[in-house]
Amino acid sequence: MRPARLETFLAQLMEAAAPPAVTDVRNFGDSNVMYSAYGLVLTTTSGGTAYTQITAQQRPGDDYNTPEDPTEADTALDPVPVPDLGNDGGVDTTQLLAWLRALVISSGSKEVIGTEAFTGSIPGFKVMFHGGAVAYTNLLYALPAGQNPRPARSSGPQPASEPREESPPVSAPRRRWTDLDPDTRAAVEQRLGSPVVHTRSHDGGYTTGLASTARLADDRTVFLKGIPAEHELADMYRTEAVVNAALPAHTSVPRLWWADDTSTWHIQAYTAVDGRHPDLAPGSPDLPAVVDLLAHLAPALTLCPLPGARTMVDDFADLFTRWHRLADNPPADLHPWYLDKIDAFTAAETAAIDTGDGDTLAHLDIRADNILIDKTGRAWLVDWAWAVRGAAWADPATLIAQLIIAGHTPSAAEQLVSSVPAYAAAPPDAVTGLAIGLTGYWEAEARAPTGPELRAYRERAAHADRAWLRHRLAV
Ligand SMILES: Nc1ncnc2c1ncn2[C@@H]1O[C@H](COP(=O)(O)OP(=O)(O)O)[C@@H](O)[C@H]1O
Ligand SMILES: [Mg+2]
Repeated sequence: MRPARLETFLAQLMEAAAPPAVTDVRNFGDSNVMYSAYGLVLTTTSGGTAYTQITAQQRPGDDYNTPEDPTEADTALDPVPVPDLGNDGGVDTTQLLAWLRALVISSGSKEVIGTEAFTGSIPGFKVMFHGGAVAYTNLLYALPAGQNPRPARSSGPQPASEPREESPPVSAPRRRWTDLDPDTRAAVEQRLGSPVVHTRSHDGGYTTGLASTARLADDRTVFLKGIPAEHELADMYRTEAVVNAALPAHTSVPRLWWADDTSTWHIQAYTAVDGRHPDLAPGSPDLPAVVDLLAHLAPALTLCPLPGARTMVDDFADLFTRWHRLADNPPADLHPWYLDKIDAFTAAETAAIDTGDGDTLAHLDIRADNILIDKTGRAWLVDWAWAVRGAAWADPATLIAQLIIAGHTPSAAEQLVSSVPAYAAAPPDAVTGLAIGLTGYWEAEARAPTGPELRAYRERAAHADRAWLRHRLAV
């Protein structure tokens, strides 16, 4: 059973359960949860909320681009007693998973041949299907009445795509071309002027939007990016299209062909780059191309080609408030190095806001998954959703933490980036101010409620920015 159908199957089982245990079940798509393509948000009769993610390993040989052809065993599993979820005002993770798993076992479906519970940082259970497909139901959050997790990417430069080493295998976190409704697909093909014959989804990350390279019948390729038109992030996508369209020619950015709203989807078509993400680790042959990319972009994007762009100063004003929050209520596990510096950092983060002023269009989401290295070794920068008008040194400065995460020492990372003229010319105090602001941001966000993968990313970012900041304050 593919994850899309499993999602509906689980929702129906929960809704039909007796005695009733949930008052509402909706899928991630309808709930604006961007954690992954498939999953369900449930509200229990006690008022609690639970987020269950659905991921899958494809049946060997199954092509998600063709219609599903379910296979069944001769008999269904023997039913088991379904535990009572109780009504104690909270959501008990173990109980909830036992309940849902019992519903699956007792469902009478001949496609299901077994289930297996697992524990760990994300508990859940595995469902094995006749034919070899395996699905994972991962319980991301279980929250008592009145609490809500933050959406994974609600504001500020948050990670869109991160390694998933902590979770069970994930194979289809994004919407695929075949998940689009036929009218949308027809409208896109008409606009492209040729039918789509093959697609490859760029999986990974927290955003569930479409991100696929499509080959067309006339042999062209195109990169398609899309999101349901009513989604809360759809306007961010629309902004990205406006930004891309304003970029000057000959920058190393895949260009927008068109962006369009059908009645249900917002879709963008870009020149496809046949490439891979760079390896940012020390000694990687990709490093010169990445540094070169940033060195060339800053002058090309000064003066800002989109005067009405959002501003870095406004973004910094949103982001650089966290030392104030940490000072009001210092977490017990805050690194001891910070303790005698919180007051100074609180003042410094506010002072850092205005240093973002400038007249360069900055990308502000510089990470390996937004960079592509093509077959000739040239680096391209994609995903301009967060672009702002501001300081020319900010993009290269934010690469430093990414290099540290990839294994560089702070001084080696700075050394590499110092060949970007915009960074070399940056006022050192402004760079330190950015490091202070970002450190506070990540330290606070790493302690905010979110899924384990995103938390792990934020912790890595906090750790890297702290190492960078310690290095800067020591010199
Ligand atoms: N023009 C392109 N050509 C080929 N692949 C691309 C292109 N743009 C983006 N991608 C791939 O798709 C992924 C997601 O696209 P991106 O624009 O970064 O969306 P998101 O907002 O979901 O991060 C990228 O990480 C990259 O692997
Ligand atoms: Mg991206």
